Amino acid sequence: MESYALRDISFEIQDGEFIGLIGHTGSGKSTLIQHLNGLMRPSSGTVYFNGEDIFGAGYDLRALRGKVGLVFQYPEYQLFETDVLADVKYGPKNMGLSDQEAEERAKEALALSGLSEDFWTRSPFELSGGQKRRAAIAGVLAMEPQVLILDEPTAGLDPRGRDEILETVSQLHKSRHVTIILVSHSMEDIARYADRILVLNEGNLQYFDTPKRVFKYYRELEKMGLSAPQITYLMHGLRDEGIDVDTSIGTIEEAREEILRIYEKNRIKD
Ligand SMILES: Nc1ncnc2c1ncn2[C@@H]1O[C@H](COP(=O)(O)OP(=O)(O)OP(=O)(O)O)[C@@H](O)[C@H]1O
Ligand SMILES: [Mg+2]
Repeated sequence: MESYALRDISFEIQDGEFIGLIGHTGSGKSTLIQHLNGLMRPSSGTVYFNGEDIFGAGYDLRALRGKVGLVFQYPEYQLFETDVLADVKYGPKNMGLSDQEAEERAKEALALSGLSEDFWTRSPFELSGGQKRRAAIAGVLAMEPQVLILDEPTAGLDPRGRDEILETVSQLHKSRHVTIILVSHSMEDIARYADRILVLNEGNLQYFDTPKRVFKYYRELEKMGLSAPQITYLMHGLRDEGIDVDTSIGTIEEAREEILRIYEKNRIKD
């Protein structure tokens, strides 16, 4: 009955990168990221953080969990304290910080997460879905991780809640240079934010490259139950109509510029 959830996976992520992790349901995304902070131990192979084997003798896995923060799928189910602030303090306290330090960290993380102060002293169970999600993310941010891994942080949220969370993540990446690994089913979000995309297919690493290069394989992605962003299909449609556009475009903003460029070029010719 033995089976492998992941196989022959080897890759390296640089400091400060924004990585998008995609793959069909059951392809192994959640399993993979739990190896990165040592929650799961591979049956063979290993994981290095800053050049050190995290499963090596004497390696401090507890400290690693503060440096590589993992926000689980539906993290709001893990809120358990009586009020939001206590919940967010849990991580830093567990790292050995004093109550006062933990509280400072928690408040800063809550502010970063965008949850307004009125909610900090409430029970997590009184919050809306999006607010709970923010509180749960704050709980990880309070440990000030160097790497932040988020497993579908926008699943089940309305478009506004989704954009707000992604903007928060993007800000952390830009202003604090936190390395981000974002698991998402939205090719639009991935195309917009990721420097590189890691594609998992049935437990194998299929591609690891820039969005432009990965989305070129949109036919192959479709066979894996994935796709390219909608706008990429539109660009291919324009190309099929004989308009000489760049088909590697993955965001609406890029498409807008490209279409205007072609329009201007043709206008001058006319
Ligand atoms: N410890 C394990 N040993 C063997 N197989 C496992 C183990 N844990 C999970 N699996 C299997 O590995 C596969 C990948 O599961 P995983 O939850 O990582 O996928 P996923 O890409 O996160 O899916 P989703 O998009 O639905 O969240 C599943 O078929 C799962 O049943
Ligand atoms: Mg998953």
